[in-house]
Amino acid sequence: MNILKFDQESTWVEGIVTFWRDRLLHNPALKMCLPTGLTPNQAYAEMARCCKKGQLSFSKTSIYLLDEYGGLSATDPGKSFNMLKERLINHIDLPKDKFHFLNTEATKLDEECKGYETAIGGRFDLVLLGIGLNGHLGLNEPGSEIESGVRKVRLAPSSRESCQRYLKHNQLPEWGLTIGLKQLLAAKEVWLLANGGKKAEIIERTVRGEISNQLPASLLRNHPKCFLFVDGEAGSRL
Ligand code: PGA
Repeated sequence: MNILKFDQESTWVEGIVTFWRDRLLHNPALKMCLPTGLTPNQAYAEMARCCKKGQLSFSKTSIYLLDEYGGLSATDPGKSFNMLKERLINHIDLPKDKFHFLNTEATKLDEECKGYETAIGGRFDLVLLGIGLNGHLGLNEPGSEIESGVRKVRLAPSSRESCQRYLKHNQLPEWGLTIGLKQLLAAKEVWLLANGGKKAEIIERTVRGEISNQLPASLLRNHPKCFLFVDGEAGSRL
């Protein structure tokens, strides 16, 4: 795991965007898996701004949404689909049919998950991830199997509580659909993003603790091309 520690949040965002622009330059048809949550929002805003100015393009790329919460209405702003659209997709030149996502309303969720795996096909070129306070990646909670694929999962209590930040009501989701550790760990390149003091402890455990699926983010230390981007606060215990 390559650790990139930035003094400030603004330079942390700049660092992510600089790397991202470089990857797009080298491979305009980048196949990406992208998260929602609060962590990537500033980088998304900056990428959207660069795209509007013609400094980069998503026109040949494809984007797969990392996960989705179940039990929320389709228009709920807390749905991952709505968050990513609002933060990134609506502002870039990605062709409509190149944005892929999981439908939690599907009548047969098993088939929905299998179909998503098929749509993903081979390895991702690039996976961006935030980290949960319990070390989860996407909705791969502690204890998830390393070989787990796209599937329905029950949210851990701390992940349910974290969702509150995205919602305007208090009906917290109990389950979701997620891309599995198998697809995440098979990616050609993975970036783990963390900012703010609340993430300092889990980042320290991710980097220094035991490598175990009890802390899914620690598994990235075995990945051949993983970058951890931390700002000064999230990296303060490293
Ligand atoms: P956050 O969520 O980016 O809103 O902190 C990260 C996560 O729980 O995976």
